[in-house]
Amino acid sequence: MVELHVVCEANRNLYSSELDEYFRARHSVYVVERGWKELDRGAGREIDQFDTPHTIYLMAIENSRVVGGHRLVPTTEPTMLSTVFPELVLRGNIRRSDVYELSRIFVVRDRRGEQARPQIESVVLAGTMEFGLAERMNQFTIVMETWWIQRLAEIGWQVKPLGLPINIKGMITVGVAVDVSESAWAQTCVRRSVRGSVLVWNGLNPPSIRVPVPRRAVRQF
Ligand code: COA
Repeated sequence: MVELHVVCEANRNLYSSELDEYFRARHSVYVVERGWKELDRGAGREIDQFDTPHTIYLMAIENSRVVGGHRLVPTTEPTMLSTVFPELVLRGNIRRSDVYELSRIFVVRDRRGEQARPQIESVVLAGTMEFGLAERMNQFTIVMETWWIQRLAEIGWQVKPLGLPINIKGMITVGVAVDVSESAWAQTCVRRSVRGSVLVWNGLNPPSIRVPVPRRAVRQF
């Protein structure tokens, strides 16, 4: 069974070995596989200036193994968009306590693809919307390659470009904002066959509002 664990400053003491595994997985995916050598800090772990106590990790864990995830950085703190890629934003950076920047999304290589059941990426994407709703977030911002746009639109995510796509080191890259909505969560669950809640809030206070059951929302489509 795959679940998406919410890991933040308040409960990271419960996840020290999983976090180490997660940073090593990021190294394998980004430094080794994708060849983003500038991220290599030489310790076999991919950790950068956006991995701070403010960062929230959504970690997909299957049978005690970290198999995917991403991180969320509050836009009230320095983000990739505001400090590394400001040219991707035309009308000024978003700095709001209810908007988080999502980055470093990945699935470990041997658990990718539509044949993988359950599909880890689907759990990560559905859980991301679930988390946004539970935490009353308004949007996620993302620096991403443009191939993601259609992929996210297909699961009901409203993707709004913040500027023009730019070729960065051979990758056509765009800054976007994605609305957090019940509709996006429900459509992600239905289109990717995710059955409702996937989040684990170990050691944290449960969210103040319960997220709705997706099936009810789906009847509206
Ligand atoms: N360029 C273009 N399209 C890509 C892509 C890339 N680098 N990586 C994935 N895709 C698209 C393709 O359409 C692919 O289908 P295809 O293999 O038939 O071409 C589809 O996504 C599915 O990808 P797949 O690798 O089978 O796995 P998945 O759906 O389980 O997980 C990712 C998707 C992106 C999470 C996974 O490929 C991954 O972890 N990649 C490495 C990390 C990464 O590049 N993250 C994004 C940048 S931060």
